[in-house]
Amino acid sequence: MSTTPPRQTQVQLTVNGQSHALTVTRATTLLHVLRNDLALNGPKLGCGLGQCGACTVWVDGEAARSCILPAQELAGREITTLEGLGTLNKPHCVQQAFIDAQAAQCGYCLNGMIMMAARLLQDNDDPNDADIRRALSANLCRCGTHLEIMQAVRLAAQRLRAQKKGAA
Ligand code: FES
Ligand code: FES
Repeated sequence: MSTTPPRQTQVQLTVNGQSHALTVTRATTLLHVLRNDLALNGPKLGCGLGQCGACTVWVDGEAARSCILPAQELAGREITTLEGLGTLNKPHCVQQAFIDAQAAQCGYCLNGMIMMAARLLQDNDDPNDADIRRALSANLCRCGTHLEIMQAVRLAAQRLRAQKKGAA
């Protein structure tokens, strides 16, 4: 019995400010494209079901789970990955705070934690612990690094406020 190969289509995706022409099928997820076609390995494959947050990116500035987003539906949307937040030489304030607070064991959840924390701080640069917990509550960490992660987000918020004060 022969099976018909899935139909391929072209899609133009904007990722971290750069446009990419990609060949996808209906089943191709954004996460697959990011990791396999664009070598953006910040987003991780955890559950693959939209339940753990390891694959979090921003779509038009809002957090989204790339493992369940069909790539072909994202033409014209602005996609931001962990790599788009900052670089090794110029890390985002939240990335630097996670490094300084040593907020990692295996590190697998950190992409999602950082993307969610950075999004939180855009709206609220003085979050209390309940705000931080709420923002990160749907992101799973199997290593139990929660205390260090909380500390990193507090540190990032503190630095962000100091930066804004300095710039004012
Ligand atoms: S890998 Fe996407 S939510 Fe778990
Ligand atoms: S540090 Fe290992 S899953 Fe969070």
